[in-house]
Amino acid sequence: MKKIIIAIDGPAAAGKSTTAKLTAEKLNYLHVDTGAMYRALTLKVIEEQIDPEKEELVCSVIKDCKIKLEKTDFGNQVFLDGRNITETIRSREVTRNVSAISSYASVRKLMVEEQRKLCKQGGVVLEGRDIGTVVVPKAELKIFMVASIEERVRRRQKELADKGTNIDYEKLVNEIIERDAKDSKRTESPLRKAEDAIILDTSNLTINQQVEFIVAKASEIIDHK
Ligand code: DC
Repeated sequence: MKKIIIAIDGPAAAGKSTTAKLTAEKLNYLHVDTGAMYRALTLKVIEEQIDPEKEELVCSVIKDCKIKLEKTDFGNQVFLDGRNITETIRSREVTRNVSAISSYASVRKLMVEEQRKLCKQGGVVLEGRDIGTVVVPKAELKIFMVASIEERVRRRQKELADKGTNIDYEKLVNEIIERDAKDSKRTESPLRKAEDAIILDTSNLTINQQVEFIVAKASEIIDHK
């Protein structure tokens, strides 16, 4: 059966990660969380105490680091130079700095090369901000996931609370809005809907409904190939 590429883009906390993961599982595809790759680089920059404002220094420090996304029995795990950093990259410090690091052209060039390599065989669900516009503009299926700010904040609040961190609602609203603004206004590959992407508003959908929608669209495309 023909294997396609599915690109899922959208703003922070729109539900991309869980949806992409479950869609990939249903289709037996590879799941590539590109946000996790930028987060891994950001962690490296923080740990090496590099000034995130200095593009050249940032790029030199990440050139040699090895990021690996691995599918395991405990879900996708992220490794940086052989160390499991799956949980660490979700910290608020990484989240606060990731937009700056991912705005650099030199950083994006390295990441996009890696992401394209993973697409060679087809059968991949990639999620991020620039997948449908820059990484794989020829992806057979492009989804642009959105949700109301209230719903996105509620989901992020629950995710953090499940890990034992309680953050004020207003504070989270501001953080999410600020990150979206940075990701959308940067010059290099900003967060943008590809012209041929399908908008999926997840505000009132369950995860299962989101996954079913994408799998149904994918099946239509695969059947017509
Ligand atoms: O999806 P996420 O929240 O884990 O992504 C973290 C950050 O990484 C996001 O704020 C912007 C950046 N990013 C990007 O610039 N391009 C991508 N394809 C994916 C993420």
